[in-house]
Amino acid sequence: MRGWIVLSLLAKLVNISTTQSSSSLTWLSYLRNRAYSHGYGRSHSQASLTAEDESSQLECPLECDCPSMYRYAMYCNNRNLQHVPFVPSRIKYVYLQNNQITGITNEVFDNAPNLSWISLHSNKLRSDKISDKVFAKLPNLVRLFLHNNNLSRFPKGLPRSLRVLHLNHNNISVVPADSFHGMSSLTALHLQMNPIEDLGNALDGLPSLTVLDLRGNRLRKIPERLPLKLSQLYLEYNHISSVPAGFLNNRPELRFVRLSHNQLTNGGIPANVFNVSTLVELDLSFNKLERIPTISTSLENLYLQANEITEFSLSSFCRVVDRNNYSNLRVLRLDANKISPQDIPTEAVLCLRLATNIDV
Ligand SMILES: *[C@@H]1O[C@H](CO)[C@@H](O)[C@H](O)[C@H]1NC(C)=O
Ligand SMILES: *[C@@H]1O[C@H](CO)[C@@H](O)[C@H](O)[C@H]1NC(C)=O
Ligand SMILES: *[C@@H]1O[C@H](CO)[C@@H](O)[C@H](O)[C@H]1NC(C)=O
Ligand SMILES: *[C@@H]1O[C@H](CO)[C@@H](O)[C@H](O)[C@H]1NC(C)=O
Ligand SMILES: *[C@@H]1O[C@H](CO)[C@@H](O)[C@H](O)[C@H]1NC(C)=O
Repeated sequence: MRGWIVLSLLAKLVNISTTQSSSSLTWLSYLRNRAYSHGYGRSHSQASLTAEDESSQLECPLECDCPSMYRYAMYCNNRNLQHVPFVPSRIKYVYLQNNQITGITNEVFDNAPNLSWISLHSNKLRSDKISDKVFAKLPNLVRLFLHNNNLSRFPKGLPRSLRVLHLNHNNISVVPADSFHGMSSLTALHLQMNPIEDLGNALDGLPSLTVLDLRGNRLRKIPERLPLKLSQLYLEYNHISSVPAGFLNNRPELRFVRLSHNQLTNGGIPANVFNVSTLVELDLSFNKLERIPTISTSLENLYLQANEITEFSLSSFCRVVDRNNYSNLRVLRLDANKISPQDIPTEAVLCLRLATNIDV
């Protein structure tokens, strides 16, 4: 930018011929475009630097990048930082991932009350080094990425404005009952790969939650009172052996339920618990089922591979088979069970007429 000012002064001072003028203008325009393509320059083409631009250029910690093209963003990721640098007041998006940050003190974000997006994933954050009040002071925070850290406790004082929260790949075993209190905008909650044994009623009162990822925890049962708007429920790789009757009822948005790699047996599956017409995909693979549970004719994808199923019960899919009554299953996986293709009755062709993929 300084270079350009010098050139522009020169162009005015030096008495240049027409040809020189045109070639130096070409050169200037090249410089200008190059500045744009690097995200610098914005108003330089008007050959004026307003005080605002000047300060947005200057107000950036040395260890970070603040391209003027994205004046609300500050990039401090991937540079071995051990502390959160000073955050200028205009910043809304701060990228601090892939560093060596272990703690966050109470006042680090005080200067930037409008922060809406904080990426702190893939650091070395420890719960005992995070101030309880540091996030509570950010009333516009909507995305908080804290995954891939060394947190042992659920963070306290998270703002109610959050919409997306990533806490996966930490060492969190307990989620206190009031953790999500008042978070009426939270739509996605990622808690996968933690050692959580029981969520109790922690999920109470999350009226907007649509995605809940709890893969790879130590849950023995399905969390109570699942949020009403839930559409995707991921519970793979837990220790769940049974599901409560009616746990999928009255959840009109729930489309995907994944329960593979658990300890499910038929004894733990109440009749008709999966016979709900809203479900589109049900993954029960890698469990201990001996029979095919009853499903709704609306279901499209059913994964049952790697169980101990010994019979192909057509009634699990269709109670009535005629012109108008058949299953909507597209994909059915039954491989790695104790049945073979000969165990499939011929009427299956009518009931499963839409299936393009049946693996036995
Ligand atoms: C925060 O945003 C509000 C509304 O957009 C604005 O009026 C205020 O000046 C901003 N605060 C800072 C410190 O930038
Ligand atoms: C994770 O935190 C624990 C204390 O909670 C500490 O003993 C351990 O060294 C930390 N691990 C890493 C990789 O930082
Ligand atoms: C996770 O936390 C437990 C205590 O809750 C501790 O014993 C264990 O060392 C921690 N694991 C890591 C990787 O820090
Ligand atoms: C599945 O649910 C439907 C609708 O509630 C019901 O009509 C049907 O009988 C149920 N299937 C079985 C096998 O009970
Ligand atoms: C069979 O299909 C007819 C016509 O779509 C429908 O009215 C009836 O309820 C269906 N019966 C069953 C048992 O699904």
